[in-house]
Amino acid sequence: MSEMPARLNVEQCRRQFPALEQVIDDLHPVFFDGPAGSQVPLRVIDAITTYFITMNANHGGVFATSRASDSLLDEAHLAVAELVGATDPGEIAFGANMTTLTLSLSRALARTWQPGDEVIVTHLDHDANVSPWVLAAQDAGAVVKRIAVNRADCTLDLAQFQSLLSPKTKLVAVGAASNATGTINAVAQITKLAHGVGALVFVDAVHYAPHRRIDVRRWDCDFLACSAYKFFGPHVGVLWGRRALMESLPVYKLRPSPSDLPGRWMTGTQSHEGIAGVLAAVEYLAELGRQVQPEVYERRAALDIAFDAIKTHEQTLAAEFLTGLQSLPQIELFGIGDLNRLEERVPTFAIRHNRVGPRDLAEYLDSRGVYVWNGNFYALPWTEFMGLEPDGVVRVGMLHYNTSAEVQRLLNDLNDV
Ligand SMILES: Cc1ncc(COP(=O)(O)O)c(C=O)c1O
Repeated sequence: MSEMPARLNVEQCRRQFPALEQVIDDLHPVFFDGPAGSQVPLRVIDAITTYFITMNANHGGVFATSRASDSLLDEAHLAVAELVGATDPGEIAFGANMTTLTLSLSRALARTWQPGDEVIVTHLDHDANVSPWVLAAQDAGAVVKRIAVNRADCTLDLAQFQSLLSPKTKLVAVGAASNATGTINAVAQITKLAHGVGALVFVDAVHYAPHRRIDVRRWDCDFLACSAYKFFGPHVGVLWGRRALMESLPVYKLRPSPSDLPGRWMTGTQSHEGIAGVLAAVEYLAELGRQVQPEVYERRAALDIAFDAIKTHEQTLAAEFLTGLQSLPQIELFGIGDLNRLEERVPTFAIRHNRVGPRDLAEYLDSRGVYVWNGNFYALPWTEFMGLEPDGVVRVGMLHYNTSAEVQRLLNDLNDV
């Protein structure tokens, strides 16, 4: 492998996203709304159109379009397995979104729990990785415990986590990265501790997926969910689980639907056109790696390179934003602000202005063509824990298609408020 540092050609990336070329209200918008859904490259849009024109059919037919559709779906299962660091396409289930898949998994797991069993969730997660487990625990008579957050840097309190573990712990549900503060959690360490008491580990990688290389093997987790609309694809959810568990758990399913993998987890007819788009999104990312290192073709290796390059670029943006904030004392940052700790965060920033409320600030930025979210983004467990309800925060979410010039524009706008 070459010694060349992995560098992203951001302009080449941007040219592939038609939405980034728009002029809205006479301004070139800056999309810092990515954590709620990224823009999509043309190849994803084309894949969806092509699906409809050339192979639009239901699953399992003997005729040509159904066979073509099924082989594309098979390829999508394999591509997404590679995206999450697995090898077995049967371990990947598609569904409406992460929330729906997690509710389905939680119901199946609850059927294996007894009264008095324990489940651990966190105060840093999106509610989609909390409420499904709380509801399932209620059904089974299990007890829910919560990992606290260190208020100073919005990291998980791992010492307190260890004190929650016991032989009664059946499941630990943790996010890979926070969609509010950008904190990256120590998933491998958490998994090791959880496995030490015999608990299973579910990872919500929805926010992590567009930023860093997911690796279920390195993390050694048991289940993982993510959502393609956050990683440059369409609105399709993804669930990965260890084959033995996915085969044996008592999932809620219809009688005629498949009892083998992955069909037993994929209720009803899927968005086949959406899954075609997911495959194209993974290919977009792999192609990005191939552009960075043209001698690499294999998809898995290309994805490794792509995420190295994405990380490097995103860390530059994060450093620029955090450095700029140092001259804006009116802006408060929640989360890691230390430039030496960029490895521990993705470039998602929760901020507040000392005089202007989150909604007003987001509206002001919109008037300057800078799109950010305000509120709690369903990271309600965290905003409640921090006492930030009802207004929440403003969230600035950067992705690899954002530029230093856009960061500068935001900093100028924040200064002008
Ligand atoms: C961290 C995180 N987890 C879960 C979800 C829910 O994902 P979905 O919309 O696919 O249900 C989101 C959505 O914003 C998220 O950011």
